[in-house]
Amino acid sequence: MSSPGKAELIHVFKGIPFTTRSSPELLKSLDNFDAREDDVLLVSYPKSGTHWLAGVITKLYNSQVTLTSPIEFGDISKLEELNKLSSKRIIPTHLDYNMLPPNFKKKKCKMIYISRNPKDTAVSMYHYYRDNPNLPTVDTWTAFFDLFLRGDVVCGSWFDHFLSWEEHKSETNILFLFYEDMKKDLPKIVKDITVFLNINISDHEIQDICKKSSFSEMKTNTEKENSDPNHTVCALTSNRKLIFRKGTVGDWKNHFTPKQNLRFEEIFNEKMKLSNM
Ligand code: A3P
Repeated sequence: MSSPGKAELIHVFKGIPFTTRSSPELLKSLDNFDAREDDVLLVSYPKSGTHWLAGVITKLYNSQVTLTSPIEFGDISKLEELNKLSSKRIIPTHLDYNMLPPNFKKKKCKMIYISRNPKDTAVSMYHYYRDNPNLPTVDTWTAFFDLFLRGDVVCGSWFDHFLSWEEHKSETNILFLFYEDMKKDLPKIVKDITVFLNINISDHEIQDICKKSSFSEMKTNTEKENSDPNHTVCALTSNRKLIFRKGTVGDWKNHFTPKQNLRFEEIFNEKMKLSNM
């Protein structure tokens, strides 16, 4: 049997490519989602460290919370499913700010946006496309590089996603984090998260959570777990084994040619003219 083609795996909603695991009916109905004041959103462009952040946050709350699958993942029954959950809900999403259900904004729910150097994000996403049967086949890094720069990948353009959120960075209910900062000094970032979420926890407990959230610990634990299709923080797969690849900063240097780097920088500088990044 041949593998499914792009047309069977991807559909476009409001100009953004989604996998068919996010049904158009669900995406249309998101505007009516009933957010709760104590919901916490984990927001990211794919491959920015979402699972890492989700691992840290669930440990901080020490099992008093429900980590849901991404709000945009599933069919029309999703909203009802989320409605039935007791609070507190930690809800991941890869949605662009403009597509976020308006109730999260009205109720000033806390939102944590995690971002990563887009060059490393592109490389991580390339490997993910290659290994993930829910995504279209890509033949070469060169072909994927072009798709990424055009925004012709799931969740659309990295630049548009980042800019849509960066515009709201100074709102008090939004915390902006960077993957690279987590790699550099995880205890400091975890401390910032606890202040933002009003979680009272000792420095000793923070150190312990950081240890348990290291790449090797998380990867090993995932390998021991049986993948539960309902337990996913990424809308693109429920297979956690695909998530933990290298977990490093700067892997782009092993993939980008000097010419690709130049082209990327040109596009980055043009698109990010108005950004503070
Ligand atoms: P790489 O493909 O570069 O290894 P997401 O969770 O948003 O899908 O992001 C996945 C990326 O985060 C992968 O990057 C993965 O290895 C990395 N990652 C996951 N857990 C991590 C951890 N504990 N420490 C560092 N990186 C981690």
